[in-house]
Amino acid sequence: MTRPYCVVGVTRGTGLQIVRQLAERGAPVRCIARDPARARNLLPAGADIRQGDVTDPNSLRRARFSECGAIFFAVDITGGVGGRGFFKPEGEIRAVTYQGLVNVVEAAKEAGFTGRFVLLSGMGSELPSFTGKLLNAIKGNLQRNQRDRDEYLRNSGLDWSIGRGGLLTDGPGGRAAIRVSPPVHQLSMFRRVARADFARALIAAAAAPGASRRMFDVFNEPGSPPSDEALAKQLESLGGDRMPAGTELTPVP
Ligand SMILES: NC(=O)c1ccc[n+]([C@@H]2O[C@H](COP(=O)([O-])OP(=O)(O)OC[C@H]3O[C@@H](n4cnc5c(N)ncnc54)[C@H](OP(=O)(O)O)[C@@H]3O)[C@@H](O)[C@H]2O)c1
Repeated sequence: MTRPYCVVGVTRGTGLQIVRQLAERGAPVRCIARDPARARNLLPAGADIRQGDVTDPNSLRRARFSECGAIFFAVDITGGVGGRGFFKPEGEIRAVTYQGLVNVVEAAKEAGFTGRFVLLSGMGSELPSFTGKLLNAIKGNLQRNQRDRDEYLRNSGLDWSIGRGGLLTDGPGGRAAIRVSPPVHQLSMFRRVARADFARALIAAAAAPGASRRMFDVFNEPGSPPSDEALAKQLESLGGDRMPAGTELTPVP
């Protein structure tokens, strides 16, 4: 039997899109949610739903990560202003977005997970930008948490891919080109990606040999949506050396 994909953070946003797209493709999916009863109403029939809270390391043992072929970490802080954690205390945000990632990586290692760990991250967290400054002010130093967790995963010893989305939107996917590029872009209000398209690129990254131990930026551009083959080709042609931990990124103007 094919090993299931495991998605952590499945009740909305990109994680929910990943689960739906995998289920549409007939792939087995294991879903980790804080509230499985609520998740059941949102997720496709047949999804294997397990209770787990990334701030509670013991709860993550139920995920049985060793049985999974890939893990997607799609968690972000919820609640607070706008339901997106705006103006929540910085420590509370870090406990979910940074320490939560650390807890899932450690649970995966403890379980003997041998697949690829795919982290959903944000574009340009190491580059100064107006949009980054604004988000850092209202969302507990968001970009520091992103940088630290990217670094933690890269040093974990697991196989990994880190997809760095532009600003995420809830618009329908499949309406524009999806650009996958080396991780060189600043965060900008004008560089966006539909969560459904981000999900597609991340699913492709879980299987693409060329996406192993690579960080990449993902955003929409005017044009036609790519075929699966064209998307995989973009991931395979990221090129360059595999990125070791601590590599400095070169910004584009
Ligand atoms: N927003 C952006 O513009 C943007 C841009 C680039 C990258 N990203 C990254 O992309 C990823 C997905 O973002 P998104 O906006 O699509 O997600 P989202 O809609 O905010 O969904 C976050 C998910 O995390 C879950 N979650 C929250 N706390 C949890 C906990 N303690 N344990 C387990 N699950 C928990 C939530 O479930 P509950 O229902 O239980 O709260 C929800 O399903 C994030 O890693 C984010 O940093 C975001």
